[in-house]
Amino acid sequence: MPGSGSATSKILIIGEGPGFNEDQQGLPFVGRSGKLLDELLATVPLSRDEVFITNVVKCRPPDNRDPLPNEVAACRPYLERQLELLDPKVIVTLGRVSMLRYYPKGKISEDHGKILEWEGRILFPLYHPAAGLRNPAIKRELQKDVLKLPEALRASTRISNTNLIEQEENNEEESPEPNKETNRPSSQTDEAPITNEAEAPLSEPLLTNETNKEQGDRQLGMF
Ligand code: URA
Repeated sequence: MPGSGSATSKILIIGEGPGFNEDQQGLPFVGRSGKLLDELLATVPLSRDEVFITNVVKCRPPDNRDPLPNEVAACRPYLERQLELLDPKVIVTLGRVSMLRYYPKGKISEDHGKILEWEGRILFPLYHPAAGLRNPAIKRELQKDVLKLPEALRASTRISNTNLIEQEENNEEESPEPNKETNRPSSQTDEAPITNEAEAPLSEPLLTNETNKEQGDRQLGMF
């Protein structure tokens, strides 16, 4: 079960592994946990078509048990390649197994809902929706935590901008050639400055309202 959703989304959601129904249908989170996940996303508001959803392991572990370390390791290259191709800004992990894949020292009871940085991306661990179905207190935590997703997205823009600025500085150090027209270093041309999207008010379309075409264009560096 490879996963499903938008290949150009900034958000990658990673669960644990497919259950019986997911294995049968070849789609992630199609059961009761999936319904809760949809409800949680709707509060942001997002639909599952606007994110990409996958799992740490790609096949259903027998008897729905937790995936074993060797099973996680066997699926690791697959997940790594997905991450490379999807290139999300924010990785949302659902549950302990998924969080540990990126944050081995993490504790889900302490780290859920924290906006963390992992290799130039935002890591945003949440409880697994199945845990929320079993425990109303965890469901309330999930409902509270998911509301921070827009903040996580803004934080990811901040990282991207920092990286851009660092890249520019490196380029300048490597080639301090002045701009021929203005005779100024190339980073000081009259082009629009790099704006901090992170400062944008919540109502701005950071999460949605972008067509796939626009998203694709942005990924190709046209914005
Ligand atoms: N639980 C998961 O972790 N992943 C799914 O796809 C379904 C249930």
